[in-house]
Amino acid sequence: MTADEAPAEIESGRRIASFGRRSGRKLRPGQRELFDETLPVRSLDLDRVRGQGPKSVFATPPQQVWLEIGFGAGEHVVWQAGRNPSVGIIACEVFRNGIVTCLRELEAAALDNVRLYTEDARELLDALPDQSIDRAFILFPDPWPKIRHHKRRLISPETLDTLSRLLVDGAELRLGTDDAPYLRVMLAVACGHPDFEWLATRPADWRVRPDDWPQTRYEAKAIEAGRPPAFLRLRRRSRQAGA
Ligand SMILES: C[S@@+](CC[C@H](N)C(=O)[O-])C[C@H]1O[C@@H](n2cnc3c(N)ncnc32)[C@H](O)[C@@H]1O
Repeated sequence: MTADEAPAEIESGRRIASFGRRSGRKLRPGQRELFDETLPVRSLDLDRVRGQGPKSVFATPPQQVWLEIGFGAGEHVVWQAGRNPSVGIIACEVFRNGIVTCLRELEAAALDNVRLYTEDARELLDALPDQSIDRAFILFPDPWPKIRHHKRRLISPETLDTLSRLLVDGAELRLGTDDAPYLRVMLAVACGHPDFEWLATRPADWRVRPDDWPQTRYEAKAIEAGRPPAFLRLRRRSRQAGA
């Protein structure tokens, strides 16, 4: 059995994987080159993150560090990186074909303010120091609809506790989903978390995608399939206020 064929549980070690397959169509030679040669240059070193913090992984230390977990083919991270040059974005994804597409777009746009982590994002979360992230995105995470797969869902009390630790006071957390049962989980686990404040005051605030939140590939497919997406914006509460 090759690594690509291995069940996700085995690949992910001690944790139950929150992702499905890690590879799809065989990479063409140009894609292979991006994966073998460009990815190492644009990847981050976990020990460096652990020891010196996430700003240290960028060529020019950014004013803020944003984090995207499960970037798919990278439409969102590439868009944000282009519009926010003073921000460094750490983006995580394990699906090889998506990683390659993202690398191609980063190269085409000559963007150097993105660093990729291409193993289980939860390893990166463990390595990040407290209050080191200024904004986080988890957009359309796999909904894992079968009951026996619910334990694979990325949005869980444990993940929210971790994000609470990592985000600075006032930092924004953005979550998106097109899956009604998963939305209910997000509302309970994230909007109901004591360290987070849900920023919606009216239905349009979660039904209409904000202007600075570009459409992802997954969202476009959801709309095509008649599944309306929800856009949740939350703010990390101030630690002082709770003291
Ligand atoms: C349904 S897709 C959505 C992709 C993208 N955000 C979009 O909206 O088009 C979810 C993605 O999250 C990735 N993913 C899930 N768990 C992950 C983890 N623990 N670490 C890194 N990526 C993960 C999967 O590989 C998958 O590509």
